[in-house]
Amino acid sequence: MGTMNSLKLSTTTKLPKFTDRDALVIGVKPDSKGNPVAVIPTALESSDLAAVVAQLNLTALGASTSFESLTRYVTPSGVAIALLGLGKRELTVDDYRALAGAAVRQLGTFARVHFALDFAHQSALVASFEGAAVANYEFTLFKGDTKAKRVTSEISAITALKLPKVEAERILVLSQAVHQTRDLVNTPPNELYPAAVASAALKQAKDLPVKVTIWDEKKLQADSMVGILAVGSGSTRGPRLVKIEYAPKGAKKKLALVGKGITFDSGGLSLKPPTSMIGMKYDMTGAATVMQTVLAIAKLGLPIKVTSWLCLAENLPSGSATRPNDIIRYRNGKTVEITNTDAEGRLVLADGLISASAEHPDLIVDVATLTGAATVALGNRYAGLMGTGAAINAVKDAAAAAGELVWHMPLAPELKKNLEGETADLINAKLGNPAGGMLVGGLFLQEFVGTKKGSNDADDILEWAHLDIAGPANNDVAPYGYIGKGASGSYVRTLVALAESMI
Ligand code: BES
Ligand code: ZN
Ligand code: ZN
Repeated sequence: MGTMNSLKLSTTTKLPKFTDRDALVIGVKPDSKGNPVAVIPTALESSDLAAVVAQLNLTALGASTSFESLTRYVTPSGVAIALLGLGKRELTVDDYRALAGAAVRQLGTFARVHFALDFAHQSALVASFEGAAVANYEFTLFKGDTKAKRVTSEISAITALKLPKVEAERILVLSQAVHQTRDLVNTPPNELYPAAVASAALKQAKDLPVKVTIWDEKKLQADSMVGILAVGSGSTRGPRLVKIEYAPKGAKKKLALVGKGITFDSGGLSLKPPTSMIGMKYDMTGAATVMQTVLAIAKLGLPIKVTSWLCLAENLPSGSATRPNDIIRYRNGKTVEITNTDAEGRLVLADGLISASAEHPDLIVDVATLTGAATVALGNRYAGLMGTGAAINAVKDAAAAAGELVWHMPLAPELKKNLEGETADLINAKLGNPAGGMLVGGLFLQEFVGTKKGSNDADDILEWAHLDIAGPANNDVAPYGYIGKGASGSYVRTLVALAESMI
C-alpha cells in the first residue's frame, strides 16, 4: 500500500552522512560531442563529493544521458550515486516533476533519497518534491515477497532554496490522495465491490469535515436511481451511490464531481470477450478519483464547496441482469433503451449528473473510464475532455498546472443521431457504428446535465466537463516519470488545482 503520511521532505545545504540506506541523485547531460557530463549544483561545487564525481569516467561507466534513465555507481567510500539522465533540452517544471519521480520510482529500496540537482528556480524544486512523493508508491498488498518492497521515507534536496511549509503540506496531501486512488483501483474486484467502496469512503472521511451519504438498493429504488440499479442488477453485490460533501463556512463557489464506479465491467449480458475483460477492475477509477479529490480538498481546508458523487455498480450477467432492449426512465423524464449493456458507464453517470445538477453547482466535472474509443483516439496518456466552453478552459488550465495531459474533443452535434431511439427517447449505444465512440459517450452524458437555475431553455446547461480517462487510468506499458505500472492516480491533482482556481 502506498500511504506515505510519514514521508519526510526537507532541504539542506550540507551533504548528509551517507549510509548504505542513502542514495544521492546527480544529473547527467550530454556535452557538445554527446558524451555524458555530471551537472554539479552550486551547493555542492566545493564538496569532496564533487571532486569524486568530477573524476568519474562517466562514458566508461555507461552513464546514459537520456531523459529519466538511471545509472548506479557506488563510490569507493560506499556512497550510492544515481546518475540521472537529464536529456538534451532545457528542463521545464513538468520535466523536474517527471525526473524526480523517475529517480524515486527506481530507487525505492533506499530509505533516503537525496537530490543534488541544479534546481533552476523555486517552482522546479516544488515540482521535484511533488514528483518524488507521487512516485514513492508500490502496490504490495498481494505480494508475499518482501525483498523489493519500497522503503523510502525521506526525500531531501541539497540546495540553498527552501520548500515552504504550505507547499510541503500540499505535496503530502496530494501524494497521499494519489496513492489512495491507486490503492482502491489496484485492489482486485473480488475484494472491492460497491459496498466496499462506500465503506472505504466512510472510513477515510471519519476525521474530516465532510458528510457522507450512502444510497443502498432500497434508497436507490426510492429515489429512482434507475441507471445505477439497472447496471447493478446482475450482481449479488448490490450497487451504491455515495455522496461526499465538503461545505466549509463562508465558501461561495461550488464544484460537483461525478465518478464512474464500475467495480468490475464484464459487459453484462453484452458480454466482453475474455481479453477485453482483463483490466476491467480499473473501471471504478473515476469514482476513486472524485472520492480522493474531495477528501484531499477537505484536508487542505480549501474555501470552496465540493461534492463528489460516486456511481457504484458491478456489471455482471445473470438471471437478474439488465437485458438489451430494457427501457429505463430517468428522473429528468428521459427514457433510455439499453441496446448494449456494456455501455454501462453512461447509464450510472446519468443518475449522478441529474443528482449533481439539482444542486446547481458552478461547475460539474465527471470522470470516467467511459470508452475504449478514447484509447483508440488518444493513446494511454491523454484524457479526452469534452463539455461547455468555460468548463473546458478551466479544466485545461488546471491540468496544465498539475502537469497532467488532457485533450479537447468536440461534442459533435451530427453524431447525436447515433443516440436516437425508436421506442425510447435515447439508446445507450448504436450497435455496429463505432464512429466517434468517445464523442457519442460525451453526447449521451450531456443529455443529463441540468439547465442553469431559472432557465427554461433545455440547451442552457450548467457549466460541465467530461473527462474520459479510459487511456490514462491505468498504465499497462513501461513505467515513466512518477507513474509505475497499474493504476496511475492521474487527475486527482488536476481536480484539486481546478478547485483552487475557482476560489
Ligand atoms: N469500461 C468500458 C470502457 C473501457 C474499455 C475502458 C477499455 C478501458 C479500457 C466501457 O464500459 C465500455 O465497455 N464501453 C464500450 C462502449 C460501446 C459499447 C459503446 C466500448 O468502449 O466498447
Ligand atoms: Zn462496459
Ligand atoms: Zn465500463
